[in-house]
Amino acid sequence: MCRESTNSTRIGAPILVIDRGPVKSSSMEHHNHAEKPLDVVILAAGLGTRMKSRHAKVLHKLGGRPLIARVCRTAATLEPHKIYVVVGHQAEEVQRAAAEVFSKDEAVFVTQAEQRGTGAAVMAASGELHDAKSTVLILSGDVPLVRVETLQALISKHKTESASCTVLSVRLENPTGYGRIVRDEDGSLVKIVEQRDANDEQRQVREVNAGIYCFEAPQLFAALERLQPANSQGEYYLTDVPEILRSENQKLAVYHHHDAREVLGVNTRAELAEFENLLRRGTIRHLMLDEGVTFIDPSNAYISDEAQLGRDCVIHPNVHIEGKCIIGEACEIHQGSRISNSRLGNRVTVKDHCVILDSEIADDCAVGPFAHLRMDAKMAERAMVGNFVEVKKSTIGRGTKSMHLSYLGDATIGAGTNIGAGTITCNYDGKQKHPTVIEDNVKIGSDTMLVAPVRVGSGSVTGAGSVVTEDVPPNTLVAGVPAKVKKKLKNNGGSLLV
Ligand code: UD1
Ligand code: MG
Repeated sequence: MCRESTNSTRIGAPILVIDRGPVKSSSMEHHNHAEKPLDVVILAAGLGTRMKSRHAKVLHKLGGRPLIARVCRTAATLEPHKIYVVVGHQAEEVQRAAAEVFSKDEAVFVTQAEQRGTGAAVMAASGELHDAKSTVLILSGDVPLVRVETLQALISKHKTESASCTVLSVRLENPTGYGRIVRDEDGSLVKIVEQRDANDEQRQVREVNAGIYCFEAPQLFAALERLQPANSQGEYYLTDVPEILRSENQKLAVYHHHDAREVLGVNTRAELAEFENLLRRGTIRHLMLDEGVTFIDPSNAYISDEAQLGRDCVIHPNVHIEGKCIIGEACEIHQGSRISNSRLGNRVTVKDHCVILDSEIADDCAVGPFAHLRMDAKMAERAMVGNFVEVKKSTIGRGTKSMHLSYLGDATIGAGTNIGAGTITCNYDGKQKHPTVIEDNVKIGSDTMLVAPVRVGSGSVTGAGSVVTEDVPPNTLVAGVPAKVKKKLKNNGGSLLV
């Protein structure tokens, strides 16, 4: 399967099926560095001045995840020998955002104390990599949508060409801001010239450096030692390395990629917003074409690229589905609802304007309008939570209903129970939270206050306006303030009203 085959524009998916075959086997009989280990260096030490932010650029989020986390995920998918992440500006926060992606020992964080350019950033990893005999793939923390297949193709080209350096280039209609690829008459790479240092003729060049490269480690570090900050910014440019290598008769190569959007860098908030749109449109297109999801208005739906939605789901306008949501088949999510890191079964209806966070909703449930589920709220099959009901850290049993104006916190509610309008679990005594248990087939009267810790036995009933301060035995009617036993009820045999 390849998503391109459906003409989908989805890009930047964390793990895509690789259709070019594994890199290592591509040309091993012919080329001596085909079997070398692969190390990855991710540059993420810069501030990103053009973002005009207090936060390092790579911490800004795209599709709900920091840019750096996206790049790290892509790097990890390549299963390299080691991943080096160069941190500097707001190093701790960047490291934290990156580390979430990695399993233990997969990544090494190196610090670039002073941000003196991309060349200096790679040098920061030289302590670790200087004597390595590996091929080094360099990625930028601000190029978040590059696909694994594209990197595989770059590495493959680098190996088949037996190059010391292979640069990933794209053609842009408007190349402003990017380093230009300067080639000689026969097309070979001469050097990369940064926009600020380019002459008029070079500025006309539309082929640009994407900031993604493959190098042979020994040649790379030897060349880095020769770098001079002789440019308009007084920085050590990684982009000067190819010219140095060429002067030493090392082989240079260019991997020209056709899809420029995929390898563009985020440098400003305007660009970030464009990326957000691109990613969003790709995700929605994929869900429509490959997964059979209906969007009433695709340009007004916001779905995380990590979310899964089942066949025949219908998504109304202004729905936000964030993080790793898993949504079953034939669910209908009405307008203005936000669902984050939650799991919904099949045929769940979420009516207008609900907020559902870190929760689980089983098959055939209905939620809303205007309901709020959070912190591990769980609804069993056919449960219903309605207008202005908040559910926190609670379980709602099969077929149980709470339809109006309630707060259910730290509660465990059985099956077939009805929670009357305005019911509150008084779970907080000013110091601590306490649990409420409501068993099966209970009828909680309107405006009941359940002062936790408290348990209401199965088949019991509370009168409207009761304040329940003590446990209620099964099959008992209580009422009043504080609630007193009024009568024992006939045991309905425990048959569930569901
Ligand atoms: C860079 C390239 C340019 C290319 C463009 C592609 C250089 C000199 N120029 O420019 O040719 O077209 O990327 O997107 O490399 N960083 C550090 N330490 C530093 C400086 C930067 O780690 O001292 C990191 C940044 O955090 C960022 C990456 O390197 O993730 C690229 O830096 P950035 O300043 O965005 O370079 P560009 O101007 O975009
Ligand atoms: Mg950049």
